[in-house]
Amino acid sequence: MKNIYDVICCPVCGARLSLVGKSLVCEGAEKRHVYDVASSGYVNLLPPGRKKNAVTGDSRELVRSRTAFLSTGHYDAVSDAAAHLAAKLVRPSDGPFAFADFGCGEGYHTCRIAGALADTGVPVVGVGFDASKYAAEAGAKRAARSGFSTLALNDSPRGAALCFFAGNFFRPPVFPSSLSCVISMFAPVAYGAADRVLREGGGIVVLIPGPDHLIEMRDLIYPNVRKREEPTPPPAPFKTVERTETRYTVRLTARETVDLFSMTPFSRRVPEEAQRRVTEAGEMTVTVDVSADLIVRG
Ligand SMILES: C[S@@+](CC[C@H](N)C(=O)[O-])C[C@H]1O[C@@H](n2cnc3c(N)ncnc32)[C@H](O)[C@@H]1O
Repeated sequence: MKNIYDVICCPVCGARLSLVGKSLVCEGAEKRHVYDVASSGYVNLLPPGRKKNAVTGDSRELVRSRTAFLSTGHYDAVSDAAAHLAAKLVRPSDGPFAFADFGCGEGYHTCRIAGALADTGVPVVGVGFDASKYAAEAGAKRAARSGFSTLALNDSPRGAALCFFAGNFFRPPVFPSSLSCVISMFAPVAYGAADRVLREGGGIVVLIPGPDHLIEMRDLIYPNVRKREEPTPPPAPFKTVERTETRYTVRLTARETVDLFSMTPFSRRVPEEAQRRVTEAGEMTVTVDVSADLIVRG
């Protein structure tokens, strides 16, 4: 494994892709499939022609709220926990550490994880997939701003390549056995896909909300806050080998309260009255409670 083109493949025929001008072109034997690189640097690798069951992911507004909230740094300890567990999967004999972030959102955590590993001298090749093209676009812009190498394989001041794609993590356009690590943060875990793309010795880093995550905000929304259930164990052949709990409180400004609420799943589920209680709450203190698991094949 040397670079990004040893990881991503054509979502239609699975052939190798290469950059030709401003497009990724596949080297398929029968037909060449072409994917344009957007000016921001992201590429849409969602399988074409499946409108009926198409995944679309987060909206532009939601991506904006998440960008604004994450930029405050309030969740940095969360990506630190993910990077800490991902580092346990580094095997220098495998060459560059290849990882994919499944449901990467706008790439804030992806960039921090890639950066944390690269800063310890590990050569990194990372890909972020999100069903939302707005998220993938924001990720590509962030990666370029943060000094990562892009699809053009230019020299990177960070010693890491990081590219973002619109893609479905249940059918990721990634070569089998090409990755050391799959990251899944606050998203459904695509165990079947991970099993296919992980090499021997690879693993999944899964981050999910703990029982008290944003409890103060949930208290405002729901009359009787339901306790979150224990995380379900991963399906065979996977098993959890390490769990870290990250827990702290943060004081939010009124603006941050709204941005945080807007990026949570409950912002789209609850009645208007409950939405108003949060958006008019102003400053508040919230608990961040996140569980990070390192999951490997048993
Ligand atoms: C709650 S957000 C988490 C984003 C990011 N991991 C973070 O923690 O900031 C979940 C993300 O998964 C994406 N998503 C949902 N279903 C998907 C799928 N089938 N394939 C790829 N991305 C998906 C959504 O668009 C969204 O950006």
